[in-house]
Parts: sequence; C-alpha cells; structure tokens
Amino acid sequence: MPPDAAATVPRETMRIEALTRPVASASARAAPACAMVIFGATGDLTRRKLMPALGHLAAAGSLPERFAALGLGRRPWTPEEFRAHMERGVRELSQGGGWDALAPCLDYLSGDLGDAGTYRRLGDRLAELDHERGLQGNRLFYLAVPPGEIAPIVHGLRAGGLIQPPGAPSFTRVIIEKPFGRDLASARALNALVADVMDESQTFRIDHYLGKETVQNILVLRFANSIFEPLWNREHVDYVEICAAETDGVGTRGKFYEQTGVLRDIVQNHLLEVLTLAAMEPPTTQGADDVRGEKLKVARALRQPWSDTIEREVVLGQYRGYRNEPDVAPDSVTPTFAALRVFVDNWRWQGVPFYLRAGKRLARRVTEISVHLQPIPLCLFGREEVCERIDPNVLTIRIQPDEGVQLTFASKIPGHDLAVGTVKMDMRYTEAFGGDPPEAYERLLLDAMRGDPTLFSHRDAVEASWAWITPILAHYEQHPPADFPNYDPASWGPDCARRLIHRDGHEWRSL
Ligand code: BG6
Repeated sequence: MPPDAAATVPRETMRIEALTRPVASASARAAPACAMVIFGATGDLTRRKLMPALGHLAAAGSLPERFAALGLGRRPWTPEEFRAHMERGVRELSQGGGWDALAPCLDYLSGDLGDAGTYRRLGDRLAELDHERGLQGNRLFYLAVPPGEIAPIVHGLRAGGLIQPPGAPSFTRVIIEKPFGRDLASARALNALVADVMDESQTFRIDHYLGKETVQNILVLRFANSIFEPLWNREHVDYVEICAAETDGVGTRGKFYEQTGVLRDIVQNHLLEVLTLAAMEPPTTQGADDVRGEKLKVARALRQPWSDTIEREVVLGQYRGYRNEPDVAPDSVTPTFAALRVFVDNWRWQGVPFYLRAGKRLARRVTEISVHLQPIPLCLFGREEVCERIDPNVLTIRIQPDEGVQLTFASKIPGHDLAVGTVKMDMRYTEAFGGDPPEAYERLLLDAMRGDPTLFSHRDAVEASWAWITPILAHYEQHPPADFPNYDPASWGPDCARRLIHRDGHEWRSL
C-alpha cells in the first residue's frame, strides 16, 4: 500500500446488531378511563400531531377502554365536521391508521374561550359523556394554544368548576403546550396563575422532544452502560454539538413564528431539554423528582453570556424568502436560525463548549447530539500523514431521522503497511428493533393519562431555561441583526455560524 494510502481509503462502516429482545417496561400499565378535552382543536397541532398519535394508540389498543376526545374551538363545526377534518389528518399522517377505532371517541364543541358560557356547556357535555361512557369524571385538558390564550382558559376552567383538587376521587390534569411564556417574566406569571388554580402535580408542561424514543434513550445509553459514563466529563470530552436542523420553512405558521422565532420555538425548550439530559448527573432513581431535579441543576448552571459577549456566543440567521412567507412582515427581524456556544458551569463540564445549532430551511433534516472525545495525547504510528488521519472518537446519538447511535474509532486498514482509517459502529433502530420508533406524542399522551410527569417540564426548570435565554432575547430585541436575511435555503445557515465554532479550532460535524 502506498505511504499515503490512509488519505485515500474510504471510511468503513462496521455494523452492530441489537442483541437484546424488546422487553416491556415494568411500569407499563393501562391508562384509566378519561375524557380528553383539546383546546385549539381546529389548529395545526391537533390535526398533525395529536390526532395521528391518538389514532396509533387506538390501533394498538393502548387508549383507555372508556375514552372520549372532545375538541373545543371557535369554528362553528358540528361533531361530524370535526371528525371529517380529523379523519384527513389521521389517514394522511398516521401510518398505522387507527381511524376506525378512534372516530367513535371524537366529539366537538364550539365556543369562545373567553366566554363563561363555553365552560358551562363544556361541563354539561362532560357530565353527559361521563354518564354515557363511564369516564368516572376523569379529565385531561390539553391546551394546544399559543401562550397568550392560556390564561383565559385556566380562568374559565376554574370558574366553571372543572378543576378538581389533587386527591379527589376523579383526576384533573392539564397539559400545556410549549413555548410556556415568551420570557422569564411571562413564564413566571403563567406559573403563578397556574399554581393558583391547580397543583404542580396536575400540571403537565409538554415538550414533545422528551417523548421521542431517542431522547429517552439518552438516559439509558448513559446509565445502563458502564463504558460511557467514565468518559462523560471534561477529562475526556472535548466538545459537544447538539443540532436540530429542518428543511421546511415556516409554511402556514408565519403568524405564530413571528411571535416566537427559533430561540423561543426550539432553543429554549427542545435543545435545552436535550442538553440537560446529556449533561446531567446520574439521578438517584429514575423517578420524576430525581430526574427532573438533576436536569434542573444543569439548567441553573448554564453560563449566562455577559451583554457585551452575547454576539460572540450567539449567531442568528434568517433564510432568504422568509419575509415573503404568509403572515410574515416584509421587514421582519425574526430569526429562523441560531447557533450558540454554551458552557455548563459545574465540576463535570467546566470548560467544555456545547455548540447548539437549530434552524429552518437548512440543507438536511437532522437532529442529533455528537460527543467529541479528546484527541489522543500522542501518536505512536510514526509518519505524520498517518497520525493526521487519526480522528478523535465521536459518539453520535441520532435523534431523527434514521434514529440510532454511532461511534467512530480508528482502525488499521488491512494491508502490508500501516495505514489508519476511521470506522464506525452503527446501531439503527429500524434494524435493531424493527420498524420506526413510536411518535413522541403517543408516549406523552399516555403518560399524562397515567399521571406520570417524568417526561414533562417542571415549573422550576422552565423558569431556569427562560432565565438563561431572556437576556439573549432582550439583547436582540434591542439590537436587531442588520444583515437579515443572511442565508440561502438548503444551506447550513449564515457564514458567521461557522466562525463561532471555527475560532475554537473545531468544525461543525458534516451532516
Ligand atoms: C415544534 C416547533 O415544537 O417542533 C416547530 O414549533 C418544529 O417549529 C417542530 O418544526 C419540530 O419537531 P420535530 O419533532 O419534527 O423535530
């Protein structure tokens, strides 16, 4: 083999198989009878996510035996019209179907969310459903509405006598969609309002990322294996990348997105949830309080960039064409891309940069965490060109698509001379377990019905993440970026995002 063979040898893949058979979780238990009331039932989330998830659960026989889903919205639809709209969503988006099993459970009520009469009629309809279907008075209210509409609903539920205290014979639980508030002050106000009306144990702040199989697997990978944890610290980890790239633009959600932008839509919640899971200490048990307690410590340890360093640590972008999307201002300064360098100021992670990247209209849809291990301290393999080919190990957790885990390492390339190449061990969910993992909302809806809050955000954690990001939001509200739009669709964001990581001697992992 010629001396520079290593430079020309393609990277090899070594595949590993799952050696385990799926074992049902010991905690799996049937969901109790209940009525699920969906506020915002005519919206995008209900059609695209909630209904297909309910359809899958119905098809799998996982919905409670006695169950009703009551949509509530302003549109004056009849229950038949509601079902017709939902049927389209379930058939288009739910591979597993389930419509026939779900359809008889669906009902609809139209009403203004600020009108006390709506809640009286809702109470009456729920009492009828209890009677007809034996739902035992159990209620799951799902607030699939923007943050500004939460307060009137919570007030309406209380005034309508629809919230039972914890410990009552029937349960009342309220699921609230993200973003929970729009900055620290509004999140605190919302938490105070909610706490005034119900107990924290009844409040389920949803971030659907926590329901993704691959996100749940972060804990299993870290704490059900002994090989990773000893390396999971500043001694061995050089840096960590967390990326959530989407190819879609904002589509028909321009109105929502103009109020939100990528920092509120993805970074404050999805990316910080993933970061805290990846960086947390081992919890004492897998119970909700222990897991959420450890995540909270990480959220509180995030280093706040000083106001004069924010633009060094945070790069924002907006794709060309965003300003022409429906309901978007022609001079909008809403960011659709963000890259951030974040430090976790604790003993384990001191000095290790976490690079976060999220954006719309990027080159590929991919969400993943890459843990880059330190380079080897000394190369024993003589020639410089061989040593240069020894890439540091990278452990990648592919959250979506092509869900899996991959580890790269150096290997001798077979031959008479010494040549080194990078190979990878690759676990793919589809190959290891057969089929795609279930949709996040399925697991979360079931957990809420069963009363398990582990995969939902606690009020303290939500406030901690807003406390970290609010000064960044405030800075850019006062100093809107002057170069928007600054990246082409199907690219990897603005050029300055590369500089953010490059100046530390790293590159974004090519995706
Ligand atoms: C939602 C955001 O929370 O997550 C959307 O509001 C985004 O803007 C979506 O597209 C991404 O979710 P997923 O599961 O497709 O990664």
